[in-house]
Amino acid sequence: MKLTTTILLVTSFFTSSTVADQVDDALQARLRKTLTDLEAIARQNGDNRAAGYPGYRASLDYMKKQIDTRFANSYTTWIQEFQFPVYNVTLETLKGPDGDDVIVKTPNWSANTTGITGSLFDTPVSANGSMCTLAAWDGLDPTGKIAFIQRGTCSVSSKARFAKEKGAIAVIIYNQPSNTTLTMRPSVELDSDRGVLPVGLVTREVGEAWKQRLVAGEDLKVTLAAHNTVNSVTSWNLLAQSRTGDPNNAILSGAHLDSVPEGPGIEDNGSGSAALLEVIDALSKYTEHKNALQFAWWGAEELGLLGSDHYVNSLTEAEAAKLKLYFNYDMVGAIGPDVEFGIQPKNITDNGPAKRMVASLEAAGIKPYLAEGAGNSDYAPFQAAGFPFVSLYAGGNKTGECYHTACDDITVIGFDTLALSVKAATYALEGIINSLEGVPLRRPRLQSRTVTPATMPKRLARRDSHAHHQHSSGCAHSASPI
Ligand SMILES: *[C@@H]1O[C@H](CO)[C@@H](O)[C@H](O)[C@H]1NC(C)=O
Ligand SMILES: *[C@@H]1O[C@H](CO)[C@@H](O)[C@H](O)[C@H]1NC(C)=O
Ligand SMILES: *[C@@H]1O[C@H](CO)[C@@H](O)[C@H](O)[C@H]1NC(C)=O
Ligand SMILES: *[C@@H]1O[C@H](CO)[C@@H](O)[C@H](O)[C@H]1NC(C)=O
Ligand SMILES: *[C@@H]1O[C@H](CO)[C@@H](O)[C@H](O)[C@H]1NC(C)=O
Ligand SMILES: *[C@@H]1O[C@H](CO)[C@@H](O)[C@H](O)[C@H]1NC(C)=O
Ligand SMILES: *[C@@H]1O[C@H](CO)[C@@H](O)[C@H](O)[C@H]1NC(C)=O
Ligand SMILES: *[C@@H]1O[C@H](CO)[C@@H](O)[C@H](O)[C@H]1NC(C)=O
Repeated sequence: MKLTTTILLVTSFFTSSTVADQVDDALQARLRKTLTDLEAIARQNGDNRAAGYPGYRASLDYMKKQIDTRFANSYTTWIQEFQFPVYNVTLETLKGPDGDDVIVKTPNWSANTTGITGSLFDTPVSANGSMCTLAAWDGLDPTGKIAFIQRGTCSVSSKARFAKEKGAIAVIIYNQPSNTTLTMRPSVELDSDRGVLPVGLVTREVGEAWKQRLVAGEDLKVTLAAHNTVNSVTSWNLLAQSRTGDPNNAILSGAHLDSVPEGPGIEDNGSGSAALLEVIDALSKYTEHKNALQFAWWGAEELGLLGSDHYVNSLTEAEAAKLKLYFNYDMVGAIGPDVEFGIQPKNITDNGPAKRMVASLEAAGIKPYLAEGAGNSDYAPFQAAGFPFVSLYAGGNKTGECYHTACDDITVIGFDTLALSVKAATYALEGIINSLEGVPLRRPRLQSRTVTPATMPKRLARRDSHAHHQHSSGCAHSASPI
């Protein structure tokens, strides 16, 4: 994903010598210890710490033990459990009219069938969306047949729903003219989409060839098989709250603890998780403070911010009124020399804590850039619910190359960067530990936040990295076939 040019882009280059005076050896040693331990946990658990896999729970138990031993007198911890569905397509085949095997993708919500055979029923193509309304079916009767529809404009599931209503037994969707590849699988849209009809998606080439034969009057019989499973998986958020401070005025700082299944996730997001521990440590010199400090290690971020979403959605209005600000740390320890720090949101005019974070980095000779959030990290559910937030990011090319892969290990961590992130976070918190002056008020909840689990690109702040280019296609999802 690329930032638009309207975003203030100030690249900051720094070398280890210019930050040498910022470096706190003991802090870096503790950060290294935490991340080494997290990597060992990944290595002992199939090389990952992903939600739904054993390495995640082991990471959570480890982190809880760290807090319970290091900060037993100043913090209490608890675990919040949540469930999420994992869908899996277990069968998808399509026999073409000539008995050939045609490449097909089925949505996770497709109705199950071991094989349904029928004649294709051709439907008109419309520039403003093919078969996107029930009215588009006026005068057409697909009863007992397999509706053959061009993709685009409205969701695959709404096309399927209208076709079902008119009596079709299955649906084959072919790509729009602009698209010949077939890699994007429509995700679950609504629970009510599940099982609407058996649905298969084919390429533009296949669609065009069949369309010509249908227009020529041929009867094309195809056989579609589709099967999917849904399993409920349990994951957990870890939370900690200071024993001192008024819980009616709480400041929450969070990082996600899970990795993707592809790797140990030491930068993403072991880095934020380790940083939070050291922020607690740095603030432990304040034995008394007016406001309560809360810390969260989120689960299942990589599957679509599920842990933080669950947390925000399970807050009652009374509980939400107690939360004054959310800080997010996700990928905050890139290795140099090309590290750049980013802060969200873009407009921090009335955001005192964000300004303090900027000031802390500037004091270390670093000019962070300010960017609008793209909703791809755990601040998004808080932002959508109207909470003021500050999100810190520190990325670099080396780290970017290992984004979401097996090489996201301790060798891509810049401990000087991570230490600077800890200091900036600590400085921002120190400013509001006793007074909420400068903290913006909560805004009304936004209408909706749309997240496409698992397909959503991770974050705005990452730019120009090679690794990110493959993710950048995700930015076009809303414009791509749906
Ligand atoms: C749908 O299933 C595929 C595996 O076939 C999986 O990769 C994808 O994440 C699933 N989508 C959702 C929304 O769960
Ligand atoms: C999904 O289904 C495929 C095919 O049956 C299987 O190999 C794979 O292990 C399943 N994945 C999950 C996460 O259940
Ligand atoms: C779509 O376009 C057709 C003509 O191509 C028009 O008759 C119809 O009203 C349009 N529908 C919508 C919803 O704009
Ligand atoms: C074509 O489809 C692929 C995979 O679904 C998608 O990544 C790409 O953005 C699409 N291209 C266009 C022009 O829609
Ligand atoms: C298909 O069957 C499996 C059980 O084999 C079930 O888990 C899944 O929900 C079914 N899919 C739909 C869309 O009903
Ligand atoms: C780790 O945290 C950083 C910053 O908080 C975030 O940008 C990144 O997306 C997180 N990693 C993952 C895997 O979500
Ligand atoms: C990082 O990547 C950008 C874009 O690819 C490039 O312009 C820059 O020179 C790279 N920095 C380093 C230190 O390699
Ligand atoms: C930034 O926020 C301030 C305070 O809310 C507001 O007055 C100002 O108009 C905003 N600036 C921009 C460019 O949106």
